[in-house]
Amino acid sequence: PRVVVLISGSGSNLQALLEAQEHDELGGDVVAVISNKADAYGLVRAREAGVDAVVLPHDEYENREHYDGALIKVIERHEPDLIVLAGFMRILSPIFVQRFFGRLINIHPSLLPAWPGLDTHRKVLEAGEKEHGASVHFVTEELDGGPVAIQAVANVLEGDDEASLKERVHTREHLIYPIAVHWFLEGRLKLDGEVAKLDGHDLP
Ligand code: GRF
Repeated sequence: PRVVVLISGSGSNLQALLEAQEHDELGGDVVAVISNKADAYGLVRAREAGVDAVVLPHDEYENREHYDGALIKVIERHEPDLIVLAGFMRILSPIFVQRFFGRLINIHPSLLPAWPGLDTHRKVLEAGEKEHGASVHFVTEELDGGPVAIQAVANVLEGDDEASLKERVHTREHLIYPIAVHWFLEGRLKLDGEVAKLDGHDLP
């Protein structure tokens, strides 16, 4: 199976996927990494792993629909079974979401449905929450609102600041994203109506 990963930045989650692939734990291959930003460090990680790294700058397009149309074309050229959003910092248009519905997943730094949107670590600290974490979810037209496939909890500790909390959540992200991708590529994880369903019938 073939995976295309979309990024905008550091790409530490991409790195986790590439490492899982290297250890034969991903169940497929990352065939391309696409960034809307030319300076995303994840592009370097992709090239170092021998993966096709493509830059598609959004500021060269008139509007979101045009950009997303171009993005669809680049993605489809790579014939992916799964499209993985890994820190891709753009809202996707309904056309895009519909095109890849059921094979488009995202990772979000919170225990969804709590704290959709940006700045989750700051918001969690300000709210005095004791628990935070990360969620992998199928992408629907509702921002950070699609069915959750897997979550990992990170405790909020005394003395945490945004940076320390973000780092703790990131370690959880790197753990759960390769698992979710593996499940999907095995055909075990599916979007079933409103639910992300994990098939466990052949498990012990
Ligand atoms: C992660 O926190 C992820 O949850 C969010 O964007 C960040 C990407 O980090 N969607 P990285 O580029 O994978 O290091």
